[in-house]
Amino acid sequence: MKALVLAGGAGTRLRPITHTSAKQLVPIANKPVLFYGLEAIADAGIKEVGIIVGETAAEIEQAVGDGADFGLDVTYLPQPQPLGLAHAVLIARDFLGDDDFLMYLGDNFILGGISALLDEFRTHRPDVQLMLTRVSDPSSYGVASLSEEGRVTGLEEKPARPRSDLAVVGVYLFSPVVHEAVRAIAPSDRGELEITDALQWLLDQGRDIRPTVITGYWKDTGNVADMLEANRCVLEVLEPGIEGFVSADSELVGRVRVCEGAEVHGSRIVGPALIGAGSAIVDSYVGPSTAIAENCRIEDSEIEFSIVLNDSAITGIRRIGASLIGCHVVVAPAPRVPAAHRFVLGDHSKVQISS
Ligand code: DAU
Repeated sequence: MKALVLAGGAGTRLRPITHTSAKQLVPIANKPVLFYGLEAIADAGIKEVGIIVGETAAEIEQAVGDGADFGLDVTYLPQPQPLGLAHAVLIARDFLGDDDFLMYLGDNFILGGISALLDEFRTHRPDVQLMLTRVSDPSSYGVASLSEEGRVTGLEEKPARPRSDLAVVGVYLFSPVVHEAVRAIAPSDRGELEITDALQWLLDQGRDIRPTVITGYWKDTGNVADMLEANRCVLEVLEPGIEGFVSADSELVGRVRVCEGAEVHGSRIVGPALIGAGSAIVDSYVGPSTAIAENCRIEDSEIEFSIVLNDSAITGIRRIGASLIGCHVVVAPAPRVPAAHRFVLGDHSKVQISS
């Protein structure tokens, strides 16, 4: 069996972070969300992986390489425009051949792996095995209806009036019949070839689509609140440890990991929290559910429930919460009177000030 991983697309909901970086590479607990998916695929025993890439192809290829670090053999499949999930299947036709395959959306984060889905597919040999989970806001997702015997009977993409609360999670197992379906459908109102429409087409042909309903943690990491929540969730099971330096006048409470080359001076860190390699925390408070990436400097500041990406500096700020801060960002007090807020913000930035 092969895997098709979708890492193209635009990522508008994570702007401005995704102006300069692929949304699949935004880190959760200092590891790109895409890597969790690749690890789950490797754990399931799949080796051959095609990765759909779009305008951020160079970045994805640099991060993943030939896949050897994951024990995978990766082929890149360029998609000239993000014309939909079914379009991605269409252009991967030659790579996929006539094998069964797993499709994994590169911005999805699933705790608990994909082995249960694979087991059910291998046992019952349906045409498609879908991963579903109950959500409070089904109209943001593909939504499935089930019969009383638990078969999938209908599918709709982001319906205004959802018929159930069962959202389609971004992991699908397909037999090769899906290739006929993606050729048969027309673009949706938003101009995309929807995989949901291809699945509905298969149902209309009398094909067997079975659900695997998961109760473990799942997030489509398309927006900041979801990223922070996924980050919190991974940090909860973080292996604590100190590989860097922690001064005697600092205090670490709970699950805290200080990576190699990181330094903590005169600070209090309340876990779960992760301090990335080469970062310095000086005279500061770092609170729960915070991941500081590599080579950052947090000085004379307070931050909690936040993600800070590489090479950023935060000085003299109290207090930062529920924030996603990009790479090479500087946050510091304005230098002189009048005490005005001074901003140099990229397009689509969002600032909320509590003063
Ligand atoms: O997250 C689960 C949801 O994913 C499902 O419930 C929906 O049924 C499914 O359509 C999909 O909805 P999204 O609107 O969240 O899909 P998104 O545009 O975010 O794309 C998902 C991933 O696929 C993301 O990593 C980008 C990539 N992608 C997307 C498109 C449209 C591609 O590689 N090529 C594309 O053409």
